[in-house]
Amino acid sequence: MSNSAHSSLCVHELRKHYGTIKAVDGVSFNVGLSEIVGMIGPNGCGKTTLFNSILGQIVPTSGSVSYCEEPITGKSPLELSRRGIGRTFQSLQVFGNLSVRDNLIIAGQEFVGTMAKRLWMRPDAGLGARADEMIELFHLQKVAHKYAGSLAYGQQKLIDVAMAFMPAPRLVLLDEPCAGINASMVDELREILKTLNRTHGGSYVVIEHNMEFIMKLCPHIICMLEGRVLAEGTPDEIRSNKQVLEAYLGN
Ligand SMILES: Nc1ncnc2c1ncn2[C@@H]1O[C@H](COP(=O)(O)OP(=O)(O)OP(=O)(O)O)[C@@H](O)[C@H]1O
Ligand SMILES: [Mg+2]
Repeated sequence: MSNSAHSSLCVHELRKHYGTIKAVDGVSFNVGLSEIVGMIGPNGCGKTTLFNSILGQIVPTSGSVSYCEEPITGKSPLELSRRGIGRTFQSLQVFGNLSVRDNLIIAGQEFVGTMAKRLWMRPDAGLGARADEMIELFHLQKVAHKYAGSLAYGQQKLIDVAMAFMPAPRLVLLDEPCAGINASMVDELREILKTLNRTHGGSYVVIEHNMEFIMKLCPHIICMLEGRVLAEGTPDEIRSNKQVLEAYLGN
């Protein structure tokens, strides 16, 4: 794992307590520039709460977060998105009654600037070319003009991920991108993320319960348990870590 001078994201002693529930209880880690970090751990161990505390969805109880060496603790999701930080949620965020391409264009709009500026711009807000690039990268050509809501759940998950990449983020946090999608689409998504990372750079943190996906995608993996980092290391180190195995068997 990188040191803070070459990091995209630095999380230091982050805590989110709900009364006596210590959902996140002193988590520290760094994410290097262009690094893909996997985040695993049993249900309820605090992964999503960690993301929400990093990304301004909730205010952490204590601790700090910095991005490219600037403090971002407690900043709003909008401010973070303007700085180049994106995310996907555990639940789908697509607009079912819009076409796939329009979903992508909407997702990129935050990046374009003020409402006035958007109104004066072309109907695609100048984002058509970027949307088409994402459509190609995510192999969505055949469905680009269909209503997103008419597509299978797996395909909507792909669109959801593509939407997160529309504003050309430099850091993306993905919360269970494989949930509910079939095995061949899991492979497809993994290859797409690898290609995106190789061709566009950027750092990703990926929460997933699908171990094969995480092991093949992420050279660095963090395992959480009960709000804390239980272990971190390479896929081989995590695979053979006794505490990690126990955490899963005990689940
Ligand atoms: N708003 C809240 N109020 C009280 N407790 C909460 C709240 N949000 C989360 N929790 C608790 O915090 C813990 C961590 O939940 P979280 O959703 O972060 O886990 P997770 O690792 O993402 O789980 P999963 O893998 O099932 O998505 C759980 O015990 C959960 O019940
Ligand atoms: Mg979760």
